[in-house]
Amino acid sequence: MPESIFIDKNAPRVAKYLQVLPQIKALIEPESDRTANLANIAAVLKETFDFLWIGFYEWKTDELVLGPFQGPVACSRIKLGKGVCGTSFETAKTIVVPNVDEFPGHIFCNSTSKSEIVVPILKNGKVVAVLDADSNQLDDFDKIDQKYLEQLAILIATKW
Ligand code: SME
Repeated sequence: MPESIFIDKNAPRVAKYLQVLPQIKALIEPESDRTANLANIAAVLKETFDFLWIGFYEWKTDELVLGPFQGPVACSRIKLGKGVCGTSFETAKTIVVPNVDEFPGHIFCNSTSKSEIVVPILKNGKVVAVLDADSNQLDDFDKIDQKYLEQLAILIATKW
């Protein structure tokens, strides 16, 4: 297992995704434990992009439950259809939120969060978890993030 990852921190975001995704693949391929893999993915994404918060919520019985993450303390449980995470889970669609104040029902886990992206992770056509990234800058996520984080979600699903 690689002990560290190589990322050019000055590269544009798209170049960072292109550098980091193969390294995440190599990191999780030999490991079968889901928590270990999600924890390492959160660490890699935090180190690479320095998001305010990056992590996972997993569907357990009847709600989303906080999984591995990097960043400030976050709410532990989110109900179906609630907040950005619960809406992404319910609709099975990625949601890019340029300004969290303008998303009805947005759940504030951190008062400095300004924009957000939530990507569903689908296994056999069913959403099993969501990947959530928060930024302390407005409008910090776009189609580039959506494209590569959705690729990452597909990679994660292969290990689910
Ligand atoms: N903002 C999210 C809640 C999770 S935290 O951002 C980590 C939401 O509205 O679902």
